[in-house]
Amino acid sequence: MTASTAASQERVLVLDFGSQFAQLIARRVRENRVYCEIVRHDLSPEQIRRHNPRGLILSGGPASVYEAGAPKCDPAIFRLGIPVLGICYGMHLACEVLGGKVESFPAREFGRARCRVTQPSDLFAGVPEQFDVWMSHGDQVMRVSDDFTPLAKTGTCPIAAVKHKSLPIYCVQFHPEVTHTAIGSHLLHNFLMTVCGCTGTWKLGDFAKETIRAMRERIGQHRVICGLSGGVDSAVTAALLYQAIGSQLSCILVDNGLLRKDEQAAVIAEFTRHFKTDLHVVQGEPRFLADLKGITEPQEKRRRIGHAFIECFKEEAKQIQGVKFLAQGTLYPDVIESGAAADGPAATIKLHHNVGGLPAELGFELVEPLRDLFKDEVRRLGLELGLPEDLVWRHPFPGPGLAVRCLGEVTKQRLDVLREADAIMIEEIKAAGLYRQTSQAFAVLLPVQSVGVMGDARTYENAVALRCVNTDDFMTADWSHLPYDVLARISTRIINEVKGVNRVCYDISSKPPATIEWE
Ligand code: XMP
Repeated sequence: MTASTAASQERVLVLDFGSQFAQLIARRVRENRVYCEIVRHDLSPEQIRRHNPRGLILSGGPASVYEAGAPKCDPAIFRLGIPVLGICYGMHLACEVLGGKVESFPAREFGRARCRVTQPSDLFAGVPEQFDVWMSHGDQVMRVSDDFTPLAKTGTCPIAAVKHKSLPIYCVQFHPEVTHTAIGSHLLHNFLMTVCGCTGTWKLGDFAKETIRAMRERIGQHRVICGLSGGVDSAVTAALLYQAIGSQLSCILVDNGLLRKDEQAAVIAEFTRHFKTDLHVVQGEPRFLADLKGITEPQEKRRRIGHAFIECFKEEAKQIQGVKFLAQGTLYPDVIESGAAADGPAATIKLHHNVGGLPAELGFELVEPLRDLFKDEVRRLGLELGLPEDLVWRHPFPGPGLAVRCLGEVTKQRLDVLREADAIMIEEIKAAGLYRQTSQAFAVLLPVQSVGVMGDARTYENAVALRCVNTDDFMTADWSHLPYDVLARISTRIINEVKGVNRVCYDISSKPPATIEWE
């Protein structure tokens, strides 16, 4: 059992109609300290009642309600007495089911619009009369039944928000969950606290306590193994388990020779000195590098690394007696995207590397204590559990490690060049106070040599690309506009201090069409 199944806690459900923002809605609700889960759009009223929610939020979605096959909810959910907030498509659906008319509108609205409140209501209490909202729609509600009161409008959308006269149903055409709608969090707060009657009692500390208690109960006297990667998710998983079962936890760090500079030492220091766990370090570098010899094709690199990782992990796990459970740092977005949540949305199925990352043939039962949490919540929890800031705020690092940043053949010598350049880049970004403001920064060793001049001599050496991005979800990303002086310092230091590099470039491509990693 996780905290999410504790029946007494205030919770809100997001019915997902295929919105790209469903997770963002859930995060915004949780920011109000109300527990929130994303569920399928077609749950029956009985299934919804079983969750005992204080409110329902109908998400947006790409479909048109009047099209055949458009996703619908059970109309009976509007009569459960549970407050409903319909957003965009959710608004269209609620208004149509309850007697209104939705049409495609020639003036499609994407982006910012000025919204004006036309009728005071609980939903807009404390909000200025006019404000900017973020719109993204081709359809809109053209007419509502007499049961609804229009609350707001924009220049092109005469019914931008409504309230039902007798049922606790509110709808907005715009997206309150995105930051471009500045009053969005105020509006969601009004819905949660005033309309749904929540008090905002969900706390990460309680979550930790409840999860630790539940894990203790489930694990009993058995042993658990947990793979450490140097990243925050596996570290927080291990830290939670350590509090729950102490010496029954064994951690395995597979050093594949593709880690960042000093990463192995940092993990060992943390998990032997601070947490005093039974830590097994597999010195896998020779094996991984042998498997990668002569390989330049990115997918083949990944395949070989994945395979070697499973073999190393399996061999080490066999040495540990009495293991029944395998702990993994699966997060809520992974669960949702893989379609693995119990009542989760079925539409957005995407297999994620973290869900079931190690094969079932290992024969262990899975423990996934973070599967109800978002990344920022995991970071907060890590701090509460006493993990160092440095580890908690570390940028994400891909499973195949530096191999996908060492373009061309992966050799120890090339990896060492990359490690040094990467360490300098991170050091300078931290020194400039920009590490927490950027989402991911790293160096890439290119498979090209170019001509340079050092002193009086001609050089013919490696080129390094710097990559630094800002993103909320890593699905899309902008390149970070790092100050020129920071870029200049990084470049000068790399060329002066890293033997074998005579040229540094900055990657200014966004995702899409580029990806964050180069391979
Ligand atoms: P891309 O390059 O696809 O990366 O834009 C998006 C995010 O995912 C990380 N990434 C991975 N993480 N195993 C991982 O655990 C992988 O194989 C992998 N490939 C990419 C990447 O670092 C970025 O944060």
